[in-house]
Amino acid sequence: MTIYLDNAATTFPKPERVYQEMDSCLRNYGANPGRSGHKLALDAGRAIYKTRELVCQLFNIENPMQVIFTSNATDSLNLALKGVLRSGDHVITTSMEHNSMVRPITALEEIGVENTIVQCDEQGVLDPQKIKTAIKTNTKLIAMTHASNVTGTLMPIQEVGLIAKEQGIYFLVDGAQTAGVYDIDVQKMNIDLFAAPGHKGLLGPQGTGILYIREGIELRHMKEGGTGSKSEQLQQPEIIPDRYESGTPNTPGIVGLGAGIDFILKTGIDKIREHEEGLLKVMLDEFGNIDKLRIYGPVDPKRQTAVVSINIGDEDSSEVSYVLDKVYDIAVRSGLHCAPLAHKTIGTFEQGTIRFSMGYFNTHEEIMKVVTALKQICEELENE
Ligand code: ALA
Repeated sequence: MTIYLDNAATTFPKPERVYQEMDSCLRNYGANPGRSGHKLALDAGRAIYKTRELVCQLFNIENPMQVIFTSNATDSLNLALKGVLRSGDHVITTSMEHNSMVRPITALEEIGVENTIVQCDEQGVLDPQKIKTAIKTNTKLIAMTHASNVTGTLMPIQEVGLIAKEQGIYFLVDGAQTAGVYDIDVQKMNIDLFAAPGHKGLLGPQGTGILYIREGIELRHMKEGGTGSKSEQLQQPEIIPDRYESGTPNTPGIVGLGAGIDFILKTGIDKIREHEEGLLKVMLDEFGNIDKLRIYGPVDPKRQTAVVSINIGDEDSSEVSYVLDKVYDIAVRSGLHCAPLAHKTIGTFEQGTIRFSMGYFNTHEEIMKVVTALKQICEELENE
């Protein structure tokens, strides 16, 4: 049985109810929601609305209509960034971002959007005061991740949210590595725009994502098309979520996402996080005892998600992960993790890292097997 430690890329497996609800949707009410008026279409529409409500419950969002369904976090971040920023605007981000944030921001430079990338320290830690210092008169948006996908480093979004509110600047948070595991309250944290994939901590299937848009914020929409509403109009309807959700939605995926969130709410987010923190602590403690390993990030279960990036001396990170997969059946991700700036920040741009990322369904026994495998790999390298 594979030991799956690539949950930062996508969680696997999913809770049983996710498979069951998706199967039931496809078999029993797989109609097109919000278009026709027949019973099956209404059932599909209701199932989608139920997921919107569950998203609201998890993130303390008041109005389900402010939740937009997208294909993934990248899609959500593109809509948020390109929807808000215009020529002459300034955006602040951090040096620990994933390319899903960095690339759209870089593309926006072409239409005259300025950006500042605030430097984090070697552990990926952000000093919120540096965000404050970077604010200019034309700063329209602060856009940042809640946690690094490379080191797991948790970012001070509560503090930055306060800074953004005080200065009247929009605040966009990328919850790709934290949604479903860490408490996120969009009201308490002054988050105006919140992007998350459905297939990571939210335990839904790939092909799903969400963007929360605070009431009153009007984004430029990225696409036009059929919405099932205002069909007499040639222009895109203004009403939300329709304005941002053209085309037939991913109904089975959204139903699966709802089942994933339902699992989180019923299990308890604290229980999920405590389990992951427990695994993380064991991994950090055990890895810390292996001489040749270098561990990146805060190396503290309270200051990072259940993500551990390491290297063994100067060994190629891809070769080590290849051995983990082929010889020990342990699935991890190596290289740059689509986050070159984060690797530059922690000093691993050339070598990359071997990343172990845990989820709710991993066990202590699995972590100990990984420790044994790494000890053996180190020994063999020593004897070469
Ligand atoms: N962003 C995902 C990762 O870090 C895919 O692996």
